[in-house]
Amino acid sequence: MATSPIHDPDTIAGTPIVSGLPMPEFRRITVEPISGACGCEIGGVDLRQPLDEEVLAEIMLAFEQFLVIVFRDQDLTSDQHKAFSRHFGELTELPQAPTYKGDTMMQEVRREAHEPENVVPSFEHFHTDSPFLPRPPKCIVMRALEVPQWGGDTAFSNAYLVYEHLSDGMKKLLDGLEVVYSGKEIWSRNEKLPPEKRLRLRETHGFSEDQLESIHPAVRVHPRTGRKALFATSAYFQHFVGWSEEESRALLGYLQSLAQHLHYHCRVKWKRNTLLVWDNRFTLHRGVHDFKYERRHLIRTTVIGERPVSQWEFGK
Ligand SMILES: [Fe+2]
Repeated sequence: MATSPIHDPDTIAGTPIVSGLPMPEFRRITVEPISGACGCEIGGVDLRQPLDEEVLAEIMLAFEQFLVIVFRDQDLTSDQHKAFSRHFGELTELPQAPTYKGDTMMQEVRREAHEPENVVPSFEHFHTDSPFLPRPPKCIVMRALEVPQWGGDTAFSNAYLVYEHLSDGMKKLLDGLEVVYSGKEIWSRNEKLPPEKRLRLRETHGFSEDQLESIHPAVRVHPRTGRKALFATSAYFQHFVGWSEEESRALLGYLQSLAQHLHYHCRVKWKRNTLLVWDNRFTLHRGVHDFKYERRHLIRTTVIGERPVSQWEFGK
């Protein structure tokens, strides 16, 4: 079982750590960390052009380390956006997220200037997208078409760091837990809300009922490195397997509070044509709706991930 270098005293001694790991060397791209916890800005890349192997390998290295990678001034067509996204894996549609211009492989996050915050799902809580799917998204590739002059950032919380800072006792408890996630109820719950309080959801989709509910490990590991991260979060959460709902909510409330700590965060300020890729397996995210009377319009692709791997399955 691989351990995170953050717990390896030889790695820590004298080596600056960023995102929980020593800073890698980059030769073909520039990489500027956004905070000590996660996120970096990458320069020297035009995503409209084909990327050579070395540049692509460095982008993937930055993605693995920083979990959130930001490119500025990327004026892409939808086809270019999708072509870049496919470097991360196969694209998927989502049952609940509204599509962009009828393209099922692109989604949009849109709040018009006159609309309240609640039209955008889960705007007020850190969450991971679609954990109810059997293979929840690996990453989201999102680009800004129109953003407020001030505010409307997206914040991220590094779920590796949340796990790595737990006590051994709590890690042991969580290591043995599984979570039931379900997306079956979101449409019926939304219907019951008054129209002005409803989320903007996709109206029809081709997903089966079975695909809208899954059991996943509460601690998942990176399929290549074995690094462990917390994967228990409130959106779509039902309960821990074998636990009552009351017991589950008490523990979940504590875990969700940990993700709020500023020292796990980075925050990205959008500009028009900012393109961002976030790892949806090992970070939580939330839009910050601290703006009013301005439009915010982001478009995105979703890359399908692996079935979440528990530490017990890793390396088998
Ligand atoms: Fe989201």
